[in-house]
Amino acid sequence: MQQYLNIFGINYIVMMVVAVTGVPGTGKTTLSKNLAKRLSFFYMDVNKLISKYKLSEGYDRKRKTKIVDIKKLNRFLILQIKNLKKDKKIKGVIIDSHLSHCLPKKYVDLCIVTKCDIKELSRRLKKKGFHKSKIKENLQAEIFDVCYNEALELKHNIIFVDTTKGFNINHITRAGFIRGFLG
Ligand SMILES: Nc1ncnc2c1ncn2[C@@H]1O[C@H](COP(=O)(O)OP(=O)(O)OP(=O)(O)O)[C@@H](O)[C@H]1O
Ligand SMILES: [Mg+2]
Repeated sequence: MQQYLNIFGINYIVMMVVAVTGVPGTGKTTLSKNLAKRLSFFYMDVNKLISKYKLSEGYDRKRKTKIVDIKKLNRFLILQIKNLKKDKKIKGVIIDSHLSHCLPKKYVDLCIVTKCDIKELSRRLKKKGFHKSKIKENLQAEIFDVCYNEALELKHNIIFVDTTKGFNINHITRAGFIRGFLG
């Protein structure tokens, strides 16, 4: 799968950028890794990068979560995208983060929002060892489609993947919509 941009009759290879977003536990990492493997795309683990490059601004004890400055994270991710684009062997990148949809639309070709049934999500978050209050906060975010609404506001090209009962990676990559964006 390769995307080309035709300028004055010359085909230029364009690196595709896929942002995988969704509430914690809805299956971003599971989907992102599968998709990256299936499409031979570069997998970007934003959580790891936040820790490695100390991109968080401390820790919110009450919410038990790292405080991330979105503008700073976006600047960092845009730089990463630009650097990856220099490597002509890289066909695409999958950005795995519940903040990936905060990137401006011009840097993202497709935004995948992972979804999950509330009961199943609650089970998954308990298994992850999340505190009760954090589970409640995330379930509310899922009910109110927070990630989707924010992605919509930024006018991303969005598709949903419901991971409640698993997913078929072939169905996802074969879906007309995704094919249209992924070349
Ligand atoms: N497609 C799926 N089918 C079945 N179980 C799944 C699926 N996707 C995820 N899960 C289960 O849900 C758990 C959470 O998935 P995952 O870690 O991919 O979510 P996440 O959105 O990346 O979470 P976080 O934001 O905390 O990193 C996994 O441990 C796995 O057991
Ligand atoms: Mg994850």
